[in-house]
Amino acid sequence: MANQTIHQKVVLIGDGAVGSSYAFAMLQQQIADELVIVDIQTDHVSGDALDLEDVQPLTGPLNVHPGTYQDATDADLVVITAGVPRKPGETRLDLVNKNLNILKTIVKPIVESGFAGIFIVAANPVDILTMATQKLSGFPRERVIGTGTSLDSSRWQVALANRLSVDLRTVDAYILGEHGDGQFAAYQAAAIAGQPLLAVAAKQGVSQLQLTDLETTTRKKGGSIIGLKGATFYGVATSLMRLSRAVLHNENIVLPIGAPVDGQYGLHDLYIGTPAVINAQGIAQILEVPLSADEQAKMVASAKSLQAIAADALG
Ligand code: 2OP
Repeated sequence: MANQTIHQKVVLIGDGAVGSSYAFAMLQQQIADELVIVDIQTDHVSGDALDLEDVQPLTGPLNVHPGTYQDATDADLVVITAGVPRKPGETRLDLVNKNLNILKTIVKPIVESGFAGIFIVAANPVDILTMATQKLSGFPRERVIGTGTSLDSSRWQVALANRLSVDLRTVDAYILGEHGDGQFAAYQAAAIAGQPLLAVAAKQGVSQLQLTDLETTTRKKGGSIIGLKGATFYGVATSLMRLSRAVLHNENIVLPIGAPVDGQYGLHDLYIGTPAVINAQGIAQILEVPLSADEQAKMVASAKSLQAIAADALG
């Protein structure tokens, strides 16, 4: 499996705004040796590969080229961003079915290629599509990772750092649950440089109500960005890059992800946002954040709504 002394290969499925931002981030960070891009828009992929070639004299080399699902045969990672975005008036279930159909056409040939690495899924609705990727592939659950509440946790960390005027790197706080409306902040376990978040906020005169407003703004931030520029991509692309690095560099780092809970929070048989230890094996350990009774109830409610959608879509 992946280590830093052998050739590391990533296959990116989906070269839309998220996919090409991910490719750019991988190149900037010099993660992996080879990045194969697969998309039905083959001209766009060829254009991106040529465009990204020009970056390399200044960043260092990363062999970026167009390819096919067959390229997954000896890849360490397959990253799935392919899917259609939600249109106004569409239900989440409409999006599930559309993107599930796209996913089916992807996972089958990837598995048939002999791929024996790790899947990372970012296509929305990500919790459902990560679960679907695991089921369709038949892979061990620890080898299928979702971006989950990674982006939401980043947004929450930014919001807290700005509100409390502290350096972003001192904020240790997570958003858990669905990457969507069911998400919530885990306040009990949140800390600023080791101090409980609620104590730091109280000291600054920031009330629980104000923190809840901040949490609501965080939950709606994706929608706000879509309202302004039609899509969001740098955030999730960077979450994907960070997860890829954790796997390829065998980092054993704790990151918020979409994880296949198995008893954590009393939940089973679904992918949902929670921190986990990520290394070359994939999800090495799922961490259970200590929750208040109210937070635990939100986790269960979020899981129930995801399971209802999954039951409809996946049967
Ligand atoms: C986001 O939250 C839309 O899932 C995307 O930015």
